[in-house]
Amino acid sequence: VKLGKNFLVLFSDDRFLSVSSAELIMEKIRKIVEKKGEAKIGLPTGNTPQKIYELLRTDYKDDPVWEKVTLVQLDEYVDADPLLPESFHYQLKEALVNHVKLKRFISLNGKAEDKEKERKRYEEEIKNLGALDLLLLGIGRNGHLAFHEPGIKTSNLVEIVNLSKETKEDNRVNFSQAFTLTLNTILKAEEIILLASGERKKEIIQKAILGAVSLDVPASYLQTHNQTHIFFDRSATGEG
Ligand code: PGA
Repeated sequence: VKLGKNFLVLFSDDRFLSVSSAELIMEKIRKIVEKKGEAKIGLPTGNTPQKIYELLRTDYKDDPVWEKVTLVQLDEYVDADPLLPESFHYQLKEALVNHVKLKRFISLNGKAEDKEKERKRYEEEIKNLGALDLLLLGIGRNGHLAFHEPGIKTSNLVEIVNLSKETKEDNRVNFSQAFTLTLNTILKAEEIILLASGERKKEIIQKAILGAVSLDVPASYLQTHNQTHIFFDRSATGEG
């Protein structure tokens, strides 16, 4: 389905969503590298993309294109130890970074002693890198993208935010703050793929796509981006 300049792609189930996404992501990375000589991509953690990563690190593990890829971490809990499974840094490494030969992995240190300094360091990294070529995103039940939580207004590229109660519950963590790329960085990406799977995402996907563009639902800003594809499976439409 075409929605303005963007596409909504509905898959029959989660497996088909993952297989098709993995294939498409590789195809897009190859095209970007062909055109620009390298690719800058952002990948999320969370449950939704895990099957995709499994495919990337098995079926596409030896693809030489990875050597041209710079991977950017989107967010991290403040105080999470990069060496422990609690951190998104660790989770991304396990999911993909340890399995393919990347050009570079740009990551956050949740354990940094001075968090404002770490925020600034990361912001500098992101600024120097320039716009991401491809950004894969999940969506929180409250409409957050990365950890840009509802209501957060900022002009920064990277922000330290307080996590909402809902987010802490969904992610089953006690961390109260996180570093995150903000909507400012997210919306600069040339191409965005938003992934949503499961009945629990139905309501927020509807709001994000059809509702008013508002910071109350950060994902609604994707309506203003001209290269966004939303991939969801039938369960995320509520049809089971
Ligand atoms: P999930 O998380 O993939 O685990 O549902 C998405 C998110 O909170 O952004």
